[in-house]
Amino acid sequence: MEYSPIGTIVGGMIGQDAIKRLGEDARGARARAYAPYSKFRVGAAVLLDNGAVVLGANIENASYGLTCCAERVAIFAARSQHPGASIVALAVSAGDDSHVHDGEQTRMPCGACRQVMVEFMAPTAQIWIDGVGARPLGDLLPAPFKL
Ligand code: THU
Repeated sequence: MEYSPIGTIVGGMIGQDAIKRLGEDARGARARAYAPYSKFRVGAAVLLDNGAVVLGANIENASYGLTCCAERVAIFAARSQHPGASIVALAVSAGDDSHVHDGEQTRMPCGACRQVMVEFMAPTAQIWIDGVGARPLGDLLPAPFKL
């Protein structure tokens, strides 16, 4: 999946149109979830500064603790497939109509994923959350662990 870098990424920032398209990609990526245990589908999409979009979905395991969230699947895939590129935005879409959403509670990225985002994204990078909106990563994890 390629986005035209022209007009969508300016100085590492992306416009409203691009973030909306990324949100649609994240919604679509929910269909790729492997979630037989929780039945809670999550899709994620990351936009790179080279215009590429990389998708991820949550991948569960019979040994529950081995499950990987959609956001981390997308980030790890992006870093592996495009090692020279930077992530400029991430979108995430969680659950479906069969799940009752309690405001932000069932939609926000988990703490582990926020820490992984910090490793590969700037504090100003936009995180779009389905049903919530976009906010800078620095607002989601203001005091991350660093080495
Ligand atoms: N999950 C995500 O994919 N992202 C998050 O930020 C939180 C939780 C997944 C993991 C598991 O497959 C399911 O949601 C229920 O916890």
